[in-house]
Amino acid sequence: MQLLSLLLLLLLHSRLLPSSSAAQLGSICLSNGNCDAGLHCETCLANGNLRPRCTRIQPSDPKSKGNGLPFNRYAWLTTHNSFARLGQRSRTGTPVIAPENQQDSVTGQLNNGVRGLMLDMYDFENDIWLCHSFAGNCFNFTAFQPALDVLKEIQLFLEANPSEVITIFVEDYVTSPKGLTKVFNASGLMKYWFPVERMPKNGGDWPLLSDMISRNERLLVFTSKAAKEASEGIAYEWRYVVENQYGDGGMEAGSCPNRAESSPMNARSRSLVLMNHFPSNPDMAAACKHNSAPLRSDGGGAPEATDIANGHLVCGCNTIAYCKVNASFGVCDDPAKPGAAATSSSYRLSSPVLASQLQYLSLLAVVLVSVDL
Ligand SMILES: *[C@@H]1O[C@H](CO)[C@@H](O)[C@H](O)[C@H]1NC(C)=O
Ligand SMILES: *[C@@H]1O[C@H](CO)[C@@H](O)[C@H](O)[C@H]1NC(C)=O
Ligand SMILES: *[C@@H]1O[C@H](CO)[C@@H](O)[C@H](O)[C@H]1NC(C)=O
Repeated sequence: MQLLSLLLLLLLHSRLLPSSSAAQLGSICLSNGNCDAGLHCETCLANGNLRPRCTRIQPSDPKSKGNGLPFNRYAWLTTHNSFARLGQRSRTGTPVIAPENQQDSVTGQLNNGVRGLMLDMYDFENDIWLCHSFAGNCFNFTAFQPALDVLKEIQLFLEANPSEVITIFVEDYVTSPKGLTKVFNASGLMKYWFPVERMPKNGGDWPLLSDMISRNERLLVFTSKAAKEASEGIAYEWRYVVENQYGDGGMEAGSCPNRAESSPMNARSRSLVLMNHFPSNPDMAAACKHNSAPLRSDGGGAPEATDIANGHLVCGCNTIAYCKVNASFGVCDDPAKPGAAATSSSYRLSSPVLASQLQYLSLLAVVLVSVDL
């Protein structure tokens, strides 16, 4: 038995050595160092993959093929309860008794290409805290940390990366007067604020991504409280975004109900789409599976699903890797079918299932795909 596993290791090793150090998506690996950039070495027991393979952890940069399209023509990888990190202790000192949805810190997520963050904010301890609680109240055992700390991480990232745009969705339980305004102001994020007056009101296109970058309006903030749009200038999420049901209700194949607060998913009066895809109870062992086949990205996880969405949105190709820089829509660089771009997109239009998918994609927008890592 021992010999067998020793042999297996040696075989793996001799396979890895001649092909230099880096291995591509899906290759067998021993450690992260064996894999190309943007990949890490992981097993997915839930998918029956016992041997560790190089697995995606980063989407391609959605603007790598040009930033001249409206913001709603790109898909951005988004995390749900981005602050609820596995093993994180509450800053109150009390052990957290709340679901933990993420493996990485917010800075780690941003460095891995996440550009949408869903943050639950509450009044707590005379401050605003990130908390995953119930009945609108935060408790020591559901409180993670003061919101200011994470907002400052976001500020540092925007400062260091002058071409990046970040969207924050606040699940807003804050009732203290101007509570959100104060904490955003204190974080230094106001200078990146995208003004609510410039957001399209009836499902129209957003400003060009390149304009948002050059004007330094690189932070979109949405609140779940309608009244704060008039009182604090914070956009009311469901005036701009449709969002599908979160949790188990969002994972049933063939069905895509809207979250209660949202307009129906096919509403054309909203130009952004937030796509939830994770089970109600975070399940780290199954996350690699949930982030794969159902998102049509076997082994590639949520990053590959984001690349696929960006391929369709940016250039009408099957993945952003097949888009050409600044090329017109429908011009694809697909190594499997040279010159077949135009035919493949008209073929898609003739298939009823994909036609409805196309309709849904063109209606909108930012497909913000949510991950539960
Ligand atoms: C809750 O946390 C605060 C510090 O944030 C602490 O002062 C207080 O004693 C804690 N309460 C309990 C019941 O642990
Ligand atoms: C925002 O911050 C500035 C300085 O950092 C301060 O002078 C101002 O009063 C703050 N405004 C609000 C609404 O908190
Ligand atoms: C793409 O378009 C942008 C903006 O017009 C331009 O700055 C850039 O050089 C173009 N890149 C290529 C490879 O054509």
